[in-house]
Amino acid sequence: MSLRILAAAALLVISQAAAAADPIVIKFSHVVAADTPKGKASEFFAKRAAELTGGKVKVEVYPNSTLYKDKEEMEALQIGAVQMLAPSLAKFGPLGVREFELFDLPFIFDSATELHKVTTGPVGKMLFTKLESKGVKGLAYWDNGFKVMSANRPLKMPDDYKGLKMRIQSSKVLEAQMRSVGALPQVMAFSEVYQALQTGVVDGTENPPSNLYTQKMYEVQKNVSITNHGYLGYAVITNKKFWDGLPADVRGQLEKAMEEATTYANKIAQEENDESMAKVKASGKSDVYTPTAQERLALKKAMIKVHKEMESRIGADTLREVYKETGFDPSKL
Ligand code: LMR
Repeated sequence: MSLRILAAAALLVISQAAAAADPIVIKFSHVVAADTPKGKASEFFAKRAAELTGGKVKVEVYPNSTLYKDKEEMEALQIGAVQMLAPSLAKFGPLGVREFELFDLPFIFDSATELHKVTTGPVGKMLFTKLESKGVKGLAYWDNGFKVMSANRPLKMPDDYKGLKMRIQSSKVLEAQMRSVGALPQVMAFSEVYQALQTGVVDGTENPPSNLYTQKMYEVQKNVSITNHGYLGYAVITNKKFWDGLPADVRGQLEKAMEEATTYANKIAQEENDESMAKVKASGKSDVYTPTAQERLALKKAMIKVHKEMESRIGADTLREVYKETGFDPSKL
């Protein structure tokens, strides 16, 4: 064999080895703790993506805002500095797709089952289509759960919220929701909430128990009220150009991994939140209160006007479709 052929053969072996050693890297950034529904589901996805692609894809998960905070992560995805995120549905307004804020409407879903009718129905699909013009592709909806309210005073009736500075996510619907009970909403990145509560920059907040517990917010909030007044969930998104540029077989394997991760996320979300709530209660640091049916109804009556106020932002037709899918009847209040 000539030297030249030997050299060429050696080169081929080297380049094949390099290809095997050089997997496609997906940076998956998120803002919550690893030990939450989103944290666990993203790790699950990373594991299945590696298995199903036979190591061709390596998903690196960066939890707890270690790579990017809320606002930065959206920008990072659009410029391709990260390939995957799972922002809460309340964080798509600044991207220009404000219809996502329909999920923030107070008291719109009575259960995760009702919510899933929307995410798996025409509205869920329409929202993902709208993302594409922003260079973003929607891959899945993942559950977290229903939110509780917290502050340093008991929160029973709507009047109890008056004058409280409440941290919210970047959603106009959440802003209107807090104003509807006389609170003063303050948009803030998730990574800053604990300190803001601790130092009194804000008085209170809302989040599902998994976030309340894992961010230790309950340590600096004397009162937690299990209002379940609104839902918090996620859209898993990717950079569209990156996704479309993947080899078709790899993309298919990743879609399968995402399907499995979604089933897993939605299966564990409720359990994770129940466990977190139990731990908050056991800590004795916050007084956890379950509103009576009457108190919850009073809160609902105070907040429900937000649906009408936000109708033009979300789109009357979209809202009607959501009501149809969930069976919500605004005239019955
Ligand atoms: C928040 O900012 O409160 C949540 O969106 C955090 C999260 O991703 O669950």
